[in-house]
Amino acid sequence: MRKDRFYITTPIYYVNDVPHIGHAYTTIAADVLARYHRTLGDEVFFLTGTDEHGQKVQKAAEEKNRSPKEHADIMVENFKKLWKRLDISNENFIRTTDEDHKKIVKELLQRLYEKGKIVKRSYSGWYCTPDERFWTEKEIINGKCPDCGRSVEHISEDNYFFRMSEYQGWLIDHIKKNPGYIMPESRKNEVLGFLENQTLGDLCISRPKKRLEWGIPLPFDEDYVTYVWFDALLNYYSATKYLSLNSELPWVVDRTPNSDWWPADHHIIGKDILTTHSVYWSTMLQALDLPLPKNIFAHGWWTREGRKMSKSLGNVIDPNEIIDRYGTDALRYFLFREVPFGLDGDFSEEALIKRVNTDLANDLGNLLNRFLTMAEKYFDGIIDTDVSFQFSNEDQRNFMYFVMNVFGDVKKYWANLSFNLILESVWIFINDQNRLIASTEPWKLEKTDSRALKSVMFKIWNLLRLLPVSLYPFMPKTAEEIWKNLGLKKDNRSLEKEISQHWIKHKEDPNTVTFFNFNWRPEYKINITKGEQLFPRIEKAWQRK
Ligand code: MSP
Repeated sequence: MRKDRFYITTPIYYVNDVPHIGHAYTTIAADVLARYHRTLGDEVFFLTGTDEHGQKVQKAAEEKNRSPKEHADIMVENFKKLWKRLDISNENFIRTTDEDHKKIVKELLQRLYEKGKIVKRSYSGWYCTPDERFWTEKEIINGKCPDCGRSVEHISEDNYFFRMSEYQGWLIDHIKKNPGYIMPESRKNEVLGFLENQTLGDLCISRPKKRLEWGIPLPFDEDYVTYVWFDALLNYYSATKYLSLNSELPWVVDRTPNSDWWPADHHIIGKDILTTHSVYWSTMLQALDLPLPKNIFAHGWWTREGRKMSKSLGNVIDPNEIIDRYGTDALRYFLFREVPFGLDGDFSEEALIKRVNTDLANDLGNLLNRFLTMAEKYFDGIIDTDVSFQFSNEDQRNFMYFVMNVFGDVKKYWANLSFNLILESVWIFINDQNRLIASTEPWKLEKTDSRALKSVMFKIWNLLRLLPVSLYPFMPKTAEEIWKNLGLKKDNRSLEKEISQHWIKHKEDPNTVTFFNFNWRPEYKINITKGEQLFPRIEKAWQRK
C-alpha cells in the first residue's frame, strides 16, 4: 500500500554566519511537522541545508583568508552540529555547492533560456552589494538601500533577465484560487496587495563574473554566474531529484528509488524572505511548467527586548547557550508555546524559566509524578488492563467528551500550523487530568474498593498515553521518557512507528486526518517505572555575567 507522503523544507541558511535562535526556530518548526507526520504513518522527506554561493559568502571567506568552498565546509558544520543538538530529524541536508545541485540548476536555466524566458538586456540601476540586489531610482531612499539602509551604487551593465513580469496576472489568480497557498492570511494579503498595486518587473538573474565569481556559471554564457536566489530557491526541487534516494537514517522506511517528492507540502520560511518565495519562486516554477508547492508559511521574527537581533547590537541569541542552560526540549517547547506561529515574539529567559516552572515542572511533571507514585505504591508498578472503564458519574462522562473535542480541534490546528493552540489544548488536558485525579481520590479507593481503584488507574493510564503521543513532535526526548515511564512497550521499532498505533486515520475524508484511539489496549503487561523527574524547577533566573 502506498503511504501518504509529506515533503517539508526549511530555508537553506547562508554559511557566512553562525546559526542563531531565528534559524533554530524555523528548523524546529519543520521538525515538529515532520515528526507529527511520521507518527501518523506518513512517509516523510524533511529537507534543510545551506546556501553557499553569493557575495556574502565570498566576502566572509575573503576576510578569513579562505577560499569560499573552504569557508563553507567549515561553517556548514555549525549548522549540522546545532541540528543534532536540537534533535532535528531531517532526512537530508542539501548544500548548494553539491555537484548534482549545480548540474540541475544549469539544466533548468538552459530550459528557461531555450523557451525564451531568460533574455539579455543592458541594464542600469542602483545596486546594493551586501543584499546583492538591484533597486530602481524610485525605490531607493536618500541614496540608500530601502531594505538595509546601506549605500547603493549606480551600475550599468549587460545582464540576463527572467521574464517574471509576464506572470503577474497569473500569480494573483493562483493566490486567490488557492487560499492556503500563502499562510498566514495576513501575509497572503500583503503579497496580494503588493501584486495588485505595483507593476511586477523582470528579475535580473545574473551577475558578471568580474564582479562576483562565487556562483554557478550560466550554461549559455560563461562570463556570468547565477544570481544567488535563483540558485538557492531551486534547492527545494533539485534535492528531490538526487537526495531522496540515499538516506540511511533509521526512520526512513519504504523509500522507493526514484520516488518523486516534488511538490513540497510546506515551505517554512521567515517573513523576511516571503517575496522571494511567493513571487520569484512561484513564477520560476510556472515558467518551468513545474507544479507549485502546496503551501508557503511565513513565520514572524524573534526580537530581543523589542529590538532586532544583530551582531552589531551584540544581542544575538546562541541556541547552544540556551540548550546548555535549560535543555533542548525546554527550548523547543518555549518557542512554540509562547508565541503564535506567524507572529513576532520577544525572546527572554525569564519567560522561558516561567514556562519551564509552570507548564513543565508543575503541570506536566506533577501529573506524571502523582500517577507513577500511586502505581508503584498500590500495584508495585503493574497496571491491570483487564478492567473496564466506569463512566458512572456525569463529570467523568463530560470529561471524556471534552478530551474528544480538544483533540478534535487539534487536527484543525495542525493543518493551520497553530502550534501554540495545539500545546494549549494539551495543557488543558493535563490540567483536567490533574483535576480528575483529585476528584476520583484513588487514595480513598485504596482503602474501600480495590476493583474501582484498578479501574480508575487503568483509565488514567489510558488517557495519559495521550501525553507522549501529542508531545512527541515538540519534545521528542521527553515523550520517549514518558513512554518508558508509562510502561508502553518499546521494542526494536522506532518510537514513531509505535506512536502511529495510537492514532486512527480516516482516509475517506482528507480533512478528518486522525483520531486518538481510545479503545487501544496493549496485549502486554504494563510495567510502570518512575524514573528521574522530567523537569526540575529552575529556582533562580540565570544571570548574565
Ligand atoms: N539563504 C537565504 C534563504 C534561501 S531559501 C531558498 C536566507 N538565509 S538566512 O541564513 O538569512 O536565513 C533566513 C531565515 O532565518 C529566515 O527566513 C528565518 O527563517 C530565519 N531567521 C533569521 N532571523 C530570524 C529571527 N530573528 N527570528 C526568526 N527567524 C529568523 O535568507
